[in-house]
Amino acid sequence: MTPPFFEVENLTKRFGGLTAVNGVSFQIGRDEVVGMIGPNGAGKTTLLRLITGILRPDSGKVRFRGRDITRVKPWTIVNEGIAGTFQVTRPFRRLPIIANVMVACLSPRAMKRGEWVKKIEAKAMDALEFVGISDLALEPASCLSHGDLRRLEIARAIATDPELLLLDEPFSGLNPAETDLLAKSIRRLHKGGRFGRLHSEGPAMIIIEHKLAELMKIVDRVIVLDFGELIADGVPEEIVKDERVIEACIGKVVS
Ligand SMILES: Nc1ncnc2c1ncn2[C@@H]1O[C@H](COP(=O)(O)OP(=O)(O)OP(=O)(O)O)[C@@H](O)[C@H]1O
Ligand SMILES: [Mg+2]
Repeated sequence: MTPPFFEVENLTKRFGGLTAVNGVSFQIGRDEVVGMIGPNGAGKTTLLRLITGILRPDSGKVRFRGRDITRVKPWTIVNEGIAGTFQVTRPFRRLPIIANVMVACLSPRAMKRGEWVKKIEAKAMDALEFVGISDLALEPASCLSHGDLRRLEIARAIATDPELLLLDEPFSGLNPAETDLLAKSIRRLHKGGRFGRLHSEGPAMIIIEHKLAELMKIVDRVIVLDFGELIADGVPEEIVKDERVIEACIGKVVS
């Protein structure tokens, strides 16, 4: 039997007396885009940090293409083909924006896939164009607004050619028009269009987002966390009607 493309099994993370992620299990198929929602403090970011190897779980497993990557270092996980963006952005502030993305193009994974230095600038520019900040390419990253820093993060993540892309609140700091634009780009990336011309197919995705209306338009499935526990997993139409989900977050979340 083929193992699931991506799988989290019984993952638990405690910070002192607080169980931030509590026995969470789910699977993701190669062709899926999955939203992750839940109230503030539900454990969404912690779960993403466990998947990307930044945090180590107390128990449970993370498997990618059948391989146990539970305690694998973050840079190895990127080379396996999982890349993400973070709620708190951390650019190389003094480097030009294009160089921020070129660094990602220099990841062993991206280099192994046939690119070399002369192609890297073009690829980095392509990633910047994809997120809509190519006109700022030569400015230092410190000049970017909060919203544009998020776009830079996405450009850096997609420049590593991920098969699984993790996005932590990609729409935060963006106005409705910018949100709509980015939402469309994310969907296009998944379908293998535009930036995807460098890829045979776009990446699977996990997208954490509080802007539920926008999220629901671009995901195939939604998982819901509350107090560290997975309380629902289903298609958007079911999730928005689920009593437990409404009580846990939809009522409270600013959409
Ligand atoms: N490094 C840490 N040390 C101690 N507690 C932490 C740490 N990181 C997260 N927590 C706690 O774990 C819980 C889950 O936090 P997390 O950031 O994963 O929530 P979230 O679902 O991403 O929330 P938000 O929607 O506000 O981003 C919170 O109670 C938070 O205070
Ligand atoms: Mg978070």
